Amino acid sequence: MSHPEHIITAGKPVIGDQLIGRQKEIGLINHYLDTGQSVVLIAPRRYGKTSLLLEILRQRQRAGNYTASVDFFAIASILALAAEITAQVLSNKKWTWSVYQLRTQLFELLKNMQFRQTVDQYDFILGFGNAQPDEWQLLSESLKLIDTFAGENNRNIVCGFDEFGDLEKLDGDKIVKLFRSIIQLQKNSAYLFAGSYESVMTRIFSSRSSPFLRFARIIHLGPVDKDEFRIFINGVFGHNQVQQGESLTDEILTYTGGHPYYTQLLAQQAIFMQSTNKSKPIPFERVLDEVLSLENDYLEKMWEAISANRQQKTVLLAIAEGTEALYSHLDRNRINVSRTLKQLSGSGLVITKPTPTLTDPLFRTWLRKRVLKM
Ligand SMILES: Nc1ncnc2c1ncn2[C@@H]1O[C@H](COP(=O)(O)OP(=O)(O)OP(=O)(O)O)[C@@H](O)[C@H]1O
Ligand SMILES: [Mg+2]
Repeated sequence: MSHPEHIITAGKPVIGDQLIGRQKEIGLINHYLDTGQSVVLIAPRRYGKTSLLLEILRQRQRAGNYTASVDFFAIASILALAAEITAQVLSNKKWTWSVYQLRTQLFELLKNMQFRQTVDQYDFILGFGNAQPDEWQLLSESLKLIDTFAGENNRNIVCGFDEFGDLEKLDGDKIVKLFRSIIQLQKNSAYLFAGSYESVMTRIFSSRSSPFLRFARIIHLGPVDKDEFRIFINGVFGHNQVQQGESLTDEILTYTGGHPYYTQLLAQQAIFMQSTNKSKPIPFERVLDEVLSLENDYLEKMWEAISANRQQKTVLLAIAEGTEALYSHLDRNRINVSRTLKQLSGSGLVITKPTPTLTDPLFRTWLRKRVLKM
């Protein structure tokens, strides 16, 4: 695959030729979706879930499928969720009536011929204009619309539900049951759920009592293939005249292990620093220091959240320090290491195999420098 040689994206989702690697995952996901099987994408923060989800939707759309995409992070109520789903489904025919219009300008909209025909067919849509709408009814109808709309237009539809774990903040259990009861019978629809490794995602999809169990295939996303990243970063460094670019690329990838966001961020920072100091190669350590301070707020918040739990805090620090320290902590502080490790890996902060490691390399460095003062 070829990539534009000079673009680094760190922060916004990447699709198309900006998306590095992931060919295996894309192939597997498409295979499942082709057979109508839904898929769940779980990964730690910033591993590229949204990018992969958007790329799949882009590919499916090109292949003639209908698509719908909803980011649960941005959804504040059941009503908003219902309206967003409806709007997304209808937009496959370029019918773009915003939720705002449905709620406040229904009367004007009804003067529009196409809109009138649409609500003749799907009259639940008028419910959005009610002063006191029945939001559960609308949610249920909007979920049914996904499949009927696709079927009536002789299409299959793929729905991407990003940050799906966030439905917890609405009415998690009830929504999960409603979703499952409606979408399990659908013939023209397949779903791609994505979310961070919060226990919610794991609970929704793999706990023994979950209504979603065996309904969707779970894919755990790892880092991006280092060799593919190497080719890309070397290309960008070459284009931007980064001195001793290839060895800097190697240092970056050794450090990140292919963590997509940090690889891009370090590369971007290196290019920036080289552009302001053209005379000398930029040492990796200096790039890392800059990135550490750029990300300080994010890392500090993560630390605040975790350090409220004494056992997790202790074990996390032991891992950041080096595994040997783990067992002496266990002895000294009566900490249930294996249970705590399970919690930490359940929330995506740590992978336990082959040895316990933080999934966020920058967080590890931050803990070593700022907390452990190593
Ligand atoms: N396959 C990839 N190739 C290149 N860069 C990537 C890839 N995946 C992710 N990235 C980098 O990581 C950043 C974050 O990606 P994305 O938003 O898709 O991750 P996420 O897992 O959805 O993050 P969050 O947990 O914040 O929702 C992107 O801006 C990009 O810099
Ligand atoms: Mg995301």
